[in-house]
Amino acid sequence: MDQGDKGKPSATLASSDAAVRDAAKEVLASSEVTGKMFETTLLHRPAGLKAKRLLLLGGGKAKSFSTAELRTAAGAAVRTLKGKGIRSFAFALPESVSAAEGVRAIVEGVHIGDFDPDYYKSDRKDQKIDSVTIIAQGDKSALEHALNVGRIVGESQNFTRDLVNEPSNRMTPTNMAERAQKMAAEVGLKCETYGANKIKELKMGAFWGVAQGSDEPPALIVLRYEPAGAVDKIHLGLVGKGITFDTGGISIKPADGMEKMKYDMAGGATMIGVMRAIALLKPKVKVTAIVCATENMPSGKAQKPGDVQIAMSGKSIEIINTDAEGRLVLADGLCYARQLGCTHIVDAATLTGAVVVALGYVNAGIFASDDQMYDRFARANKQAGEKMWRLPLDDEYKEVIKSNIADIVNSGGRWGGAISAAMFLKEFAEDTPWIHLDIAGTAWMEDAKPWIAKGPSGIAVRSLIEFVKGWAS
Ligand code: BES
Ligand code: MN
Ligand code: ZN
Repeated sequence: MDQGDKGKPSATLASSDAAVRDAAKEVLASSEVTGKMFETTLLHRPAGLKAKRLLLLGGGKAKSFSTAELRTAAGAAVRTLKGKGIRSFAFALPESVSAAEGVRAIVEGVHIGDFDPDYYKSDRKDQKIDSVTIIAQGDKSALEHALNVGRIVGESQNFTRDLVNEPSNRMTPTNMAERAQKMAAEVGLKCETYGANKIKELKMGAFWGVAQGSDEPPALIVLRYEPAGAVDKIHLGLVGKGITFDTGGISIKPADGMEKMKYDMAGGATMIGVMRAIALLKPKVKVTAIVCATENMPSGKAQKPGDVQIAMSGKSIEIINTDAEGRLVLADGLCYARQLGCTHIVDAATLTGAVVVALGYVNAGIFASDDQMYDRFARANKQAGEKMWRLPLDDEYKEVIKSNIADIVNSGGRWGGAISAAMFLKEFAEDTPWIHLDIAGTAWMEDAKPWIAKGPSGIAVRSLIEFVKGWAS
């Protein structure tokens, strides 16, 4: 259903089906229905239809209705209906969007809406949807393909959300490595997981500097997708921040809100979810994911402000603030991706509180060292319907990460904090085309939305899947 856009808005139905139009006629004429986005009107015993109920879904302005709105509308339908105990329904594809794209968007939206982080509730009402039928016209095999892609993408996003939702006592670096191994075995990916010995052997001094303070062993997780017939000379690297709990270390965080720092491994979980989808969708491009997983803890063994660590690349880092730990583990993750031969690297991280100050809980921050790579990513991002905004990487910002005694400091202070963090990472991506996604404000939904539960969002999973697919011929 669409909202008219001239003068007094009038709701019109995005279906030419005579029976549906007839059944909805009266309520539409009543001006009870405006068609605004996420408005729901549930009709019982709609005249002339076999269905017991007809749910009219608001789609907002007809002019701006696209697959992104359709995806969230499908999520809203699921959340509305399952809240009423209705677990099976049919979704009529609106006629304004292309059938295949529409089917995929609906399937993705249904999966996203179906997720609830209620795993640990003992009165858990398992309210998962049983079945959804999509009514669409078009080439059968194209529509079936779209349905399958939508399912893989939606399930993979939820796979990431499940990992992010786990508390830190149940998602240690070791648990995270095990979950990656299990998933890899299921979908046919190569997965290697390493501990402290390998991290030291690779001379990952920045990663180890963070890990040394915790009694939980760190994990370096490497997932490889190497299809036959892959495009020449392209090797994508996906690097994720996997801090399973961020206390801040010796520069300890205040108690208020610290419990949220269990989601500081969302960047790593994102990359693991993306690799799951890639393994199932089988695009012809080589991809390697690297997740640097550790806790950031204060202890007698923890690194201290003022310490100097030598990163894998050989650069020396003065640790000004042990709470700026994400960039340390990523510094070595990026360097390792380069060593493994990645030609283009994307990292995802809940990196800074400053990105939340800049962009709120709405947009993730994108940083890119290469405009061509950015353009590719932006296209994928638009298709995926995830909100992200590019922030700058001017050389002037490098001033604030200069050190008196080492090559670089790990904190550039308060102003432009998301940017100086990205500038720090850029020193380790070096000349390899690279994109950094700061998802600190977007990986966790502070409130429920009509289409998605409160809790882990799975942001960036869809954009990255689309980005990877875009390289395969
Ligand atoms: N994990 C935090 C960033 C974060 C903040 C994630 C809020 C999610 C929500 C990160 O490790 C951190 O502590 N960053 C510091 C950097 C500072 C010490 C330079 C920050 O943003 O305050
Ligand atoms: Mn921190
Ligand atoms: Zn952190």
